Amino acid sequence: MNAIEIRGLTKSFRGMYALDGLDMTVPQGAIYGFIGENGSGKSTTEKCICGHLVPDKGKISLFGRPYTDAGVRARVGALIENAGCFPASSVYTNLMMQAINLGLRDRKGQIERVLKTVRMEDNAKLRFKKCSLGMKQRVGIAMALLGAPALLILDEPINGLDTDGMKLMREILTDITQTYGCTVLISSHILGELEKIATHYGIIRQGKMIREIAASEMEGRAQNFVSLKTGDMQRAFTLLQRLGKAVQREQDELKVYDVDDTGKLTAFLLQNGLAVGEVKKHKIGLEEYYVGLMSGKEVV
Ligand SMILES: Nc1ncnc2c1ncn2[C@@H]1O[C@H](COP(=O)(O)OP(=O)(O)OP(=O)(O)O)[C@@H](O)[C@H]1O
Ligand SMILES: [Mg+2]
Repeated sequence: MNAIEIRGLTKSFRGMYALDGLDMTVPQGAIYGFIGENGSGKSTTEKCICGHLVPDKGKISLFGRPYTDAGVRARVGALIENAGCFPASSVYTNLMMQAINLGLRDRKGQIERVLKTVRMEDNAKLRFKKCSLGMKQRVGIAMALLGAPALLILDEPINGLDTDGMKLMREILTDITQTYGCTVLISSHILGELEKIATHYGIIRQGKMIREIAASEMEGRAQNFVSLKTGDMQRAFTLLQRLGKAVQREQDELKVYDVDDTGKLTAFLLQNGLAVGEVKKHKIGLEEYYVGLMSGKEVV
């Protein structure tokens, strides 16, 4: 069973389509990285799933049930835009208010649990407005975790965080999936960071899902490529193309794909009178995949 299944989701604002027949499949237990340019429709999708926006058309199922089902709604936690906390109240009081709102029974126990999960147990008395950006994001996640959700929806939770903040967030998100078996949908522009935790990716463009791929599949299909510099780039380019290699000419280097033996490649160029400087081996990552897809040429 999938945690989220969306078919043909459409949402327009004043006649402009923010979502245009979007499909999405998020397997249970996944950390699903939701990627797309500004204005492509990520937040709108997340708001529709959370019931903050009403779609024009389309079907949303959560854990095999309609997303409007009260039982299933209670299992969704979200952090979209901001934590929705009272600035003058302490972190603890904010969590208590939310726990009461949700009608939770073991409120103290649950608050202790979520504070520990987001590494905020020593800052519970701090007023929300005194929290750093990283802390605020973590409090937002704690608020969303109250009620032990099976699905957590996070809109750009790592935006603006420093390296340590991102690392902490990574640990927390991995914990949430591993310890609580929670599925996480996370939108972000920070692809290098997303790549470290996501198990699946969905790439959206102009309100349509243009590709969904498991991280394992991307890894398995990823080609290696070699970048190199020579004195005569044009000649090297032509020679390598004639050899049947997939070559790409960049500003000051050549990218040669599907290279098993770098030694053979440089020897070939040397035999043709071209000295090779700076040879580097690379593996295609999420960044290259995304850029390739956006520019219409898929590199994986
Ligand atoms: N409440 C609204 N009223 C009018 N237009 C809206 C509203 N919310 C979103 N839009 C429009 O819908 C489109 C999709 O916006 P959305 O916020 O979902 O994009 P996004 O992918 O989250 O972008 P970003 O990466 O900048 O957060 C945009 O063109 C946006 O201007
Ligand atoms: Mg957004």
